[in-house]
Amino acid sequence: MKAKAKTVYVCQSCGSQSPRWMGKCPDCGQWNTLVEERMERQKDIGAAKKGRSSEPLALNEIKTGDEDRFVTKIGELDRVLGGGIVAGSVVLVGGDPGIGKSTLVLQMLRQVAELRGKALYVSGEESPSQIKMRAQRLGVKAENLYVLAETSLDEITRAADELQPQVIVVDSIQTVFTSELPSAPGSVGQVREVSGRLMLYAKRTGIPTFLIGHVTKDGAIAGPRVLEHIVDTVLYFEGDRGHAFRILRAVKNRFGSTNEIGVFEMKESGLAEVANPSELFLAERPKDATGSVVVSSLEGSRPILAELQALVTPTKMTMPRRTSIGVDYNRVSLLIAVLEKRVGMHLMGMDVFVNIVGGLKIDEPAVDLGVIAAVASSFREKSIDPNTVVMGEVGLAGEVRAISQAELRLKDAAKLGFSRCILPMVNVEKLDKAAGIGKMELIGVRTVEEAMERLF
Ligand code: TYD
Ligand code: MG
Repeated sequence: MKAKAKTVYVCQSCGSQSPRWMGKCPDCGQWNTLVEERMERQKDIGAAKKGRSSEPLALNEIKTGDEDRFVTKIGELDRVLGGGIVAGSVVLVGGDPGIGKSTLVLQMLRQVAELRGKALYVSGEESPSQIKMRAQRLGVKAENLYVLAETSLDEITRAADELQPQVIVVDSIQTVFTSELPSAPGSVGQVREVSGRLMLYAKRTGIPTFLIGHVTKDGAIAGPRVLEHIVDTVLYFEGDRGHAFRILRAVKNRFGSTNEIGVFEMKESGLAEVANPSELFLAERPKDATGSVVVSSLEGSRPILAELQALVTPTKMTMPRRTSIGVDYNRVSLLIAVLEKRVGMHLMGMDVFVNIVGGLKIDEPAVDLGVIAAVASSFREKSIDPNTVVMGEVGLAGEVRAISQAELRLKDAAKLGFSRCILPMVNVEKLDKAAGIGKMELIGVRTVEEAMERLF
């Protein structure tokens, strides 16, 4: 047995070191910031840095686009990764328990096994027979797919040395431990140490490695959150358990653009790619219902059309209720105030509920005008033409401001058969007429009042 390495507790806030764990850092006074680390770790890093030849390079001499990428042919995944899996990269996949992370990586491993060679799936959570059951459900029967139920880091790297796989997946990083730290698996110290070592392993061998991390209820990845700055790429797998669709989002990517998303649908036999998410979110839209409007949201480089609903009812309380799901609450309150002040709509005595259908979350000012339109539609009990898309940012003075990528959004809407769009005048004026938007009628507006006139 190897001797236990010396460890030290390092404050993650100020860097102060202490031989024992303490709740409060004696130097900076912050609570719960001390994390166990191996003592040689700092030396290792120093040595590694020295060993590397870092001569200055002329910018012109640096080649780009020559990273070795493997295309999984799961289009939604490839796009989020920036065009495929990069050799030697470390990708953190975070998400709520039960959202489908294991399913996603298993489907990815099948592609690797079928198209490229051996793939290693390390699971500290499930037994090989459980994994086999999931694989059967997914119809995976790749010969080159290897499963290892193991939680010891040394055993994992030893197995990888032997197998020489094309990709390693560690599911989940919270279950893996190194005996060099006495703290429990899943603790911040262990997660960091283990990931740091896996990172070095990936860089040394060139084997791309995926680390799965669970998110806790309050939204923070327990432990793995501290990894975000270590790994190359951070993907979040999100979705609503009550809905079938899942969104894979890149929040950090050293090898591609961030804010790129991939959309999947969880089916009986695994995750299916959704090539046209707008269709999914508009599938059950009631025609001619009041308070319903179609908005366009830009997710990464891709526009998504979604249905936004509002319900305005007389309140029975002294303080009217404002509830919003999928759009920022404060934003909705602000827009209600704009409607009151600039359009003279009496919403004081009304409860207002706003919801984006399908469990989608939109964090973009371009839906402002949509919120306004939906609330007004429900308040006035007048429906909005079902073939109309509404987009625009709204300012406090009631002005409709320009949105980004209007052309892209319009093309998407035209493709789905929408024939009319209410959008900021500024965007209409700048629009390239030959943009391929087809016969769509574009109605430019400058103020909320003007938009109201054109809508109803
Ligand atoms: P899983 O990949 O185990 O989630 P995670 O690893 O993020 O915890 O997926 C779990 C859920 O997905 C589970 O509730 C069942 C569902 N599921 C399907 O609906 N279809 C399938 O083909 C599979 C494999 C899972
Ligand atoms: Mg899992």
